Amino acid sequence: KRHLLSAADLTRDDAELVLRTAEELRSLADRPIKKLPALRGRTVVNLFFEDSTRTRISFEAAAKRLSADVINFSAKGSSLSKGESLKDTALTLEAMGADAVVVRHGASGAPHRLAHSGWVRSSVVNAGDGTHEHPTQALLDAFTMWRHLGSLDGRRVAIVGDVLHSRVARSNALLLHTLGAEVTLVAPPTLFPVGIDTWGVETSYDLDAVLPKADVVMMLRVQRERMNASFFPTAREYSRRYGLDGKRMRTLQDHTIVMHPGPMVRGMEITADVADSDRSVIVEQVTNGVAVRMAVLYLLLSGAEGVAGADESEND
Ligand code: CP
Repeated sequence: KRHLLSAADLTRDDAELVLRTAEELRSLADRPIKKLPALRGRTVVNLFFEDSTRTRISFEAAAKRLSADVINFSAKGSSLSKGESLKDTALTLEAMGADAVVVRHGASGAPHRLAHSGWVRSSVVNAGDGTHEHPTQALLDAFTMWRHLGSLDGRRVAIVGDVLHSRVARSNALLLHTLGAEVTLVAPPTLFPVGIDTWGVETSYDLDAVLPKADVVMMLRVQRERMNASFFPTAREYSRRYGLDGKRMRTLQDHTIVMHPGPMVRGMEITADVADSDRSVIVEQVTNGVAVRMAVLYLLLSGAEGVAGADESEND
């Protein structure tokens, strides 16, 4: 495959290849001294029109650990503020010889536009587009679940919160379905998108009924920046019905893990004691993000099947 735009583009074989490749690369990602020469001479551009901490930094770390050259571009401080278009920005990147463009954009569909416009020849990776998709987040989440629970076949995953604005929820629902998991989305009635019945998942308004059956509980941030202020619930009213606190955590099965893609709002969708508890794999998700993004860049840019035989080399 040339691009990674949507979790829906991944077959089960594709997704499992990414997970296996990430597992091979993970031990390397834990050791900052070593890096692979696999993408030496290749250029990866991180093109971020929206804010990011985890995704931008982990794509940069992933590309560098594969010896690629990395160019970081953020909309703030660029000529976009002077009115330059996505097309002219893309043509500029093409002129600089980008092999992969990792794009985050506030508009749903922007990475598809970039990939299919003919403006760039490079691979395009969707790093989050509007309220639409965030496929590498879903891959790193599946990788984290798989490391804790083994096969995801029949596993019950509850995704809880602001589903309406969540590209993470959509990409996870698609990928987890492909990998055989049973997904339940839990949200207040006002935070489900129109057409949720076509997602192929269960839905519920009742968090307390869903928690005891779940193998994984994934909490989502309420995305205030994408809401009309008059619809924004107070932390108190929201957390009372849909927040994960210590009392609710004690209703989970012993093996159940708690996830959050970040950024978290402690005290709103999750309390600090839960976020910092032994069940929380939130920091591990970030670590796994580097290995998974290494796998994605490696598979897209090297055209290789897996990483067997790739030599390690010292840092340049
Ligand atoms: N999960 C996630 O996409 O985080 P950032 O917005 O910090 O990249």
